[in-house]
Amino acid sequence: MDVQPITPILITGGAGYIGSHLTQVLQQAGYLPLVLDNLSSGQKVSVPAHAKFFEGDMGDQTLIQKIYHDYPFPAVIHLAASIQTGESVQHPLMYYQNNVGRTLQLLMALQHLGIKKILFSSSASVYGEPNTNTPFTENCPASPVSPYGHSKWMLEQILQDLNRAQTIQAICLRYFNVAGAHPTFHTQQHATHLIPIILNAIKHKKPVAVFGNDYDTQDGTCIRDYIHVMDLCDAHLLALEFLLQETHPRSLTFNLGTHRGSSVLDIIKTAEIVTHTKIDIQYSARRTGDPRFLVADSTLARTQLNWTPHRSDPWNIIHDVWTYAPCHL
Ligand SMILES: NC(=O)c1ccc[n+]([C@@H]2O[C@H](COP(=O)([O-])OP(=O)(O)OC[C@H]3O[C@@H](n4cnc5c(N)ncnc54)[C@H](O)[C@@H]3O)[C@@H](O)[C@H]2O)c1
Repeated sequence: MDVQPITPILITGGAGYIGSHLTQVLQQAGYLPLVLDNLSSGQKVSVPAHAKFFEGDMGDQTLIQKIYHDYPFPAVIHLAASIQTGESVQHPLMYYQNNVGRTLQLLMALQHLGIKKILFSSSASVYGEPNTNTPFTENCPASPVSPYGHSKWMLEQILQDLNRAQTIQAICLRYFNVAGAHPTFHTQQHATHLIPIILNAIKHKKPVAVFGNDYDTQDGTCIRDYIHVMDLCDAHLLALEFLLQETHPRSLTFNLGTHRGSSVLDIIKTAEIVTHTKIDIQYSARRTGDPRFLVADSTLARTQLNWTPHRSDPWNIIHDVWTYAPCHL
């Protein structure tokens, strides 16, 4: 009987919120996850025991060569990044250095090793401020309004250039607002993202800060497209399989969202229903770098990757964080 070797996959940032979910999903799908993380915001306890963990920087070319020597991986899922929009406005250089500078070093190491296949975690923040309320397709012009968004857009362009030079075959996945939790994964939640912030405020009986209620939207607050982290992981598995099978070196970009917008107040009201708690709101001024409306048209991912987000109803997302991740709030 033929025994299929387990395919190792390098996951940068695999100790973070999304990475630690994805590591478990990859392992369950039969891959060997190789987690490379410098633990700047991730936690070692979030990395499952069956994954190989390498503490270090994504820009450490010697370490990447050593990992490849021991586990010759055919592809990389590149999640490692600094991810807070507001912080990027305060500290742009830090964001360009980490997200762009260190990714360049990673890409050089991959080129040296002859590894061409990369799934890149991009973001809806590449789109910037829209003129309409129509969900973004991948062809909408990029116009980021924060250094974080710029860093993602720069990397997408670099990957396209490398693709034209036939050095890299990349799939850029533009995530919209990722939230949710898995019943048994026990991974960390972001205290900087809206849904964990609301649930944390409920748990500690504090008011919720809402930044801006004078946007040109139905209730004056920003509109976002929320996607369950497990739906996002499904899309990564499909994209990885697509990438591993694809021989033609195309560069592809997919939006990962649900086509459904929820305002900040919609999410607060849903959290009140899920938790049976009345929430106090404190309004403050708008934050720089927060676009009014970010909603995905993800037709391309649905048709080309055959992806369907099953769990991304806001009630379900909030329920899962409240039920399965309360210790991290
Ligand atoms: N969470 C969201 O809603 C969202 C939305 C759009 C895009 N994204 C992207 O998804 C990816 C993962 O985001 P997340 O929410 O899991 O964030 P996270 O902060 O939980 O994870 C990022 C991980 O990268 C690691 N890291 C950062 N710099 C590193 C470096 N130089 N070398 C090695 N490791 C490093 C951190 O320690 C952390 O574990 C990021 O690229 C982010 O930009 C996230």
